[in-house]
Amino acid sequence: MRNSLKVKIELERAKQDKIREIISNLGNQIEVPDSVFDATVYTQEMQELSKTHWTPIRVATEAARMLVTNQRTRILDVGSGCGKFCFVASLSGPGNFVGIEIRQNLYEIANRKKEKLQADNVEFLLGDMSEINWSNFDSFYLYNPFYENVASYNLIDNAIPLTREHFSRYTATVTAQLRRCKVNTRVVTYHGFGGDMPNDYYCEETKKIGSGELNLWIKK
Ligand SMILES: C[S@@+](CC[C@H](N)C(=O)[O-])C[C@H]1O[C@@H](n2cnc3c(N)ncnc32)[C@H](O)[C@@H]1O
Repeated sequence: MRNSLKVKIELERAKQDKIREIISNLGNQIEVPDSVFDATVYTQEMQELSKTHWTPIRVATEAARMLVTNQRTRILDVGSGCGKFCFVASLSGPGNFVGIEIRQNLYEIANRKKEKLQADNVEFLLGDMSEINWSNFDSFYLYNPFYENVASYNLIDNAIPLTREHFSRYTATVTAQLRRCKVNTRVVTYHGFGGDMPNDYYCEETKKIGSGELNLWIKK
């Protein structure tokens, strides 16, 4: 009994050391493999979803470079999942990251991990991205968040209804919300977002990376 407790404490200590190393490496722009980040921060279930659903580290740091213009930039991650994009982006550089997530379990995981990673410039909201005011943000990140409504493989779970109707409604909402945002608003998409960018946004940069393409859009 005593020995197993000792082993547990030692394992927990080793994990804390690994987390400290990851935080330090991200802050110093030293490469952290996705497999190491995922295995240290998340459970097996979240790790298995990572390849398909969570932004890879290299992509997240590039996206953050495109999204953040100064220390005070406020970025909304539209569909933040278990928080990977927000954590990597905020631990790698400046900016205040807010993630909104519709699935309660993912929102709760993200909040628990926020403590562990001491990610002070990150905040998570629970809910549908259609229901919050986007005008409080300077930049938006979208990793094709509604695609699950039209794809039938490797789903996150069955916690929310997935329909073509939701896909059309959500993508139209994004277009309408972005139309109302201020001049110089930045939007970065990874694998697109499934809808149309409003006409008054121009594509400032495109970069092929990982399994897809990052696009930076800026409002005229
Ligand atoms: C592809 S994952 C991206 C996760 C995270 N941004 C990342 O890159 O690590 C998309 C996420 O969007 C969430 N989502 C889908 N529809 C949503 C909605 N209407 N409002 C908020 N979140 C939504 C999904 O639950 C999923 O966690």
